[in-house]
Amino acid sequence: MPTLILALETSCDETAAAVVEDGRIIRSSVVFSQMDMHALYGGVVPEIASRAHVEACDRVVDQALKEAGVTFRDLTALGVTQGPGLVGALLTGVSCMKGLSFSTGLPLVPVHHIHGHICANFLTHPELEPPFLCLVASGGHSHLFMVEDYTAFRLLGQTVDDAAGEAFDKAARVLSLPYPGGPKLDELAENGDPLRFSLPRPHTEGKYDYSFSGLKTAFINLVHGMEQRGENLPKADLAASFRHTLVEVLAEKAMLAARDHGVPGLALAGGVSANRLLRRRLAELCSLEGIPFYTPSLPLCNDNGAMIASAACYRYDAGVRAPLSLNADPSLRLVQPQG
Ligand code: KG4
Ligand code: ZN
Repeated sequence: MPTLILALETSCDETAAAVVEDGRIIRSSVVFSQMDMHALYGGVVPEIASRAHVEACDRVVDQALKEAGVTFRDLTALGVTQGPGLVGALLTGVSCMKGLSFSTGLPLVPVHHIHGHICANFLTHPELEPPFLCLVASGGHSHLFMVEDYTAFRLLGQTVDDAAGEAFDKAARVLSLPYPGGPKLDELAENGDPLRFSLPRPHTEGKYDYSFSGLKTAFINLVHGMEQRGENLPKADLAASFRHTLVEVLAEKAMLAARDHGVPGLALAGGVSANRLLRRRLAELCSLEGIPFYTPSLPLCNDNGAMIASAACYRYDAGVRAPLSLNADPSLRLVQPQG
């Protein structure tokens, strides 16, 4: 009997549900993006996000079941993102799935959002198995994890200030690119000169830690200085120089960790894994080192329900079950701090 899981993701601005078989096969994946609602305000408005999730979650869940051609009776368990994320948005999903668990009798499995992002790689690469190193770069994370098993992770390094996605979004904002800025900056950078502007590469105490706030501030100062001097902004060159520097920093530490730990593979995960240069550069460096490189297919880089269902499947197999008192946890950790 296959393990069939229906999962719901509502941590930020996507209401997404999916049915996944054995953690690997996507039977359906429905993503309702609220992007247009938030674009008006230049960023995610938490209250609007929560309300939109409430309105969409029943519909998205129904559609995921319908597209998979299954009913609740065919399912093994339910999965839901417990955290981290916006508390109101998370609560909507957790309440919805607790209600469904209570009424159907199906067990509920809570999932860490980043565990989901890592599992997007299992949905894309059937041959991929732990252990491997994973660079997680999203709006809230820039972390290097050793994926020791399907549900066991060791944190090697993380950002000491801004996340990579956050830095991309802020840089896009000073270039007056519309929300969401990261993908727009990436697109613009494709036609720019990455070496035109030299930007600082931050130093960190931790060997595998990241820091992006200095780079972000230097970029903002560079752009403001040009504006004050009344110069026309060479936006494509600015975007390309920023992207080049950030990607080099991300790639350099990831490759250092990969070499030091002699890993059998390197995977990329999180929203920033959609970045074209980051994908190209890591593929190139891994190929030079003879390390297999894995990245989710583009639709699975952004938030989706399938990645949560995959993670829920592995946690289900590990015996994880949520009580009906389960609460959303906006600052949930994937790995408990040492000591
Ligand atoms: O994983 P995600 O969808 O949400 C979080 O869990 O945070 O990541 C969203 C982040 C945003 O900061 C967005 O700008 C960034 O990922 N992002 C990108 C690209 N696509 C999404 N950043 C750079 N280049 C992209 N192509
Ligand atoms: Zn995410």
